[in-house]
Amino acid sequence: MIPLNVIDLRSDTLTVPTPEMRRAMAQAEVGDDVYGEDPTLNRLEAEAAALLKKEAALFVPSGTMGNQLAIMTHCRRGDEVLVDAESHILHYEVAAAAVLTGAQLRPIPGLHGPGGAEKMVEFVRNGGDDHQPPTTLLCLENTHNRQGGTVIDAETTRSLLKKARSFGLKVHLDGARIFNAAVSLGRDPADLAEGLDSVMFCLSKGLSAPVGSLLLGSGDFIRRARKNRKLLGGGMRQAGVLAAAGLEALNMRHRLAEDHAHARLLARGLSRVPGIAVDMETVQTNMVLMDVQGTGHDAPSFLSLLADRGLKAGSPGGSKVRLVTHKDVGEKDVHKAVEIIRGIFS
Ligand SMILES: Cc1ncc(COP(=O)(O)O)c(C=O)c1O
Repeated sequence: MIPLNVIDLRSDTLTVPTPEMRRAMAQAEVGDDVYGEDPTLNRLEAEAAALLKKEAALFVPSGTMGNQLAIMTHCRRGDEVLVDAESHILHYEVAAAAVLTGAQLRPIPGLHGPGGAEKMVEFVRNGGDDHQPPTTLLCLENTHNRQGGTVIDAETTRSLLKKARSFGLKVHLDGARIFNAAVSLGRDPADLAEGLDSVMFCLSKGLSAPVGSLLLGSGDFIRRARKNRKLLGGGMRQAGVLAAAGLEALNMRHRLAEDHAHARLLARGLSRVPGIAVDMETVQTNMVLMDVQGTGHDAPSFLSLLADRGLKAGSPGGSKVRLVTHKDVGEKDVHKAVEIIRGIFS
């Protein structure tokens, strides 16, 4: 439980399971998934694959494992992987691509922004030169965590995919929050995954499941990823208990619009606080990224001022502070959060 009187906007990963999830977990029909015999997990994988119009899906304990399995399954040791310079895979996955796959990450600044597809040209290497690794994979991120939950639309995804294909690259999407993107754009989530070789999405963020992510792709890709999951010790037994919560989570994707409305409300309130800068154009889903430089504080000192007043937030670094709306914060909490921050500077 989130403690009473504390408004916790650090992340949507803080969401606790709903009573329906807990009931479904208690009643789940289960079997041994390593034998492929957990009916609830099989149902979750089939529903996830159908939702994103991919051939197959694999349940994994975390988004990180999903991304890393994708890299491990697409790449060979010594390959180079193109990622956005602010991507989760680069910043927050413990150099796992190097440790587990032996792949090198090559960051591209502004990959998802205007002209991103054209930028790729400077970064792709075909391995023909003995000094250089071959580039074999491009990873995208939708929504984009460190940029404050911004969305890549289907057309941009398509143009990045087309350019990557022209170099013979595979394309993976870190779609931890793909349903936030789909809701924000008013699109079918399958449109944001169309043509991509693999997609990972999380059940455990705004969708509020206690555990779990899915990796999706072709039947052959998922067969190989399943074996790699076993190699990493990720083969689970009666995981239907978790999948039951996951099935409930999939049904919660439409309520993400509420989190987005709360984020806009929060951003509008904060943009009126002296010293705080919020770029409203970046408030596209459930995150608000604000620059607190004008208040005379850096992020750590600003965060401790908030924490002293019962408001928790996070920071991607520098003078940026991030607030994330989710199921367990309501409109009243949003108004209170604005009041707390305004109170510090008035
Ligand atoms: C964009 C993105 N990708 C991947 C992950 C990793 O998910 P997990 O924490 O389940 O490993 C996160 C987690 O916040 C994320 O924001």
